[in-house]
Amino acid sequence: MSVHSGTPRGVSITCRNLAIDVETDTGTRRIVEGLDLHIDPLEFVCVLGGSGVGKTTVLRALGGLIPPAPGSVLEFDGQPVNGPSPKCVIVFQNYTGSLLPWRTVLANVELPLERTVRNKAERRERAMEALRLVDLDKRCTAHPAQLSGGMQQRVQIARALVMEPPVLLMDEPFGALDAMTRESLQDALLDIHRAAGTTIVFITHDIDEAAYLGSRQVVLAGSPSKVAFDFKSPLGTDREQIKTKSSAEYLTLRQQLYAAVRGEH
Ligand SMILES: Nc1ncnc2c1ncn2[C@@H]1O[C@H](COP(=O)(O)OP(=O)(O)OP(=O)(O)O)[C@@H](O)[C@H]1O
Ligand SMILES: [Mg+2]
Repeated sequence: MSVHSGTPRGVSITCRNLAIDVETDTGTRRIVEGLDLHIDPLEFVCVLGGSGVGKTTVLRALGGLIPPAPGSVLEFDGQPVNGPSPKCVIVFQNYTGSLLPWRTVLANVELPLERTVRNKAERRERAMEALRLVDLDKRCTAHPAQLSGGMQQRVQIARALVMEPPVLLMDEPFGALDAMTRESLQDALLDIHRAAGTTIVFITHDIDEAAYLGSRQVVLAGSPSKVAFDFKSPLGTDREQIKTKSSAEYLTLRQQLYAAVRGEH
C-alpha cells in the first residue's frame, strides 16, 4: 500500500513498571504488574501468552482505553498516554460489531478518512486500495450483514489500514480467517509495515504467525502478568512464506517460542 501521509511516522512506546487493574464483581483485580517494555518506532512486536494472561488488557491500555494503575509509566514518544490517541488505531479481537450496518463496505472503509481527506475521489481510491489488500474490492457495494464473519473482520482490517496510523494495535486480527487468506494478509501487513513505518503491536496465539511476522516476540506470563520472554527476531526484513518458514533461523526461533509459551524455556 502506498504511503499517503509522508515518511515513516512510527512512534516509540514505553511501558515501565506498568500495572493494570480492572473492576470485577468482587472488587478490583490486578491483571498486569511490573511490566517493562520499550518498543522502538519501527518495531513489529508480536505478543504471545496463554488465554486469560492479559494480552487484550495490555493492548487496551496501550490504546488508552483503560488507565494504567498509579506508579505506572505508559508513554508514546515520551508523552503519557491519557486516553485514546489519534496516532493509534486498534483492530479488536473478533469484534465485527464496529462496522456500520447501514453503510456499504466501501463507505465503512472510507469513514475514518472523512475527517482528514477532503477530496472524495482520493478517499474512494484509498478505500478501494485497502479493500484490494484484503481481497474484498469486488464486494465493495455489499452491506456488512451480507458478508461472512471472516469477511467482516477483513473489512475491519481494511478500515484500520486505510488510515495508515503511526501505531497499529491488533488483537488476533487474523484468528477467524482461513489459512490462505491469513497468509496473504500477513504478507500485506509486512509490506505496509515496511512501506509506512508503522509501529505494530500484534497479539496472536499462533507461534508460526508470531515467528513469521515479528521483528520481536514478547511472551506474557504470570498472574498478575508481565514480560516473561523477549526475543529479537534473527530473521531479516525480507520474508517469504515458504522460504522463510524452512530456514534454520525460523525453525530455531519457533522452537524457542514454543518452549517459552509453555514455560519450558
Ligand atoms: N473488564 C473486566 N472485568 C473483569 N475481568 C476482566 C476484565 N477484563 C479482563 N478481565 C480478566 O483479566 C484477565 C485477562 O483478560 P484478557 O482479555 O486480557 O486476556 P487475554 O490474554 O487477551 O486472553 P485471550 O487469549 O483468551 O484473549 C482474564 O482473567 C479476564 O477474565
Ligand atoms: Mg484477548
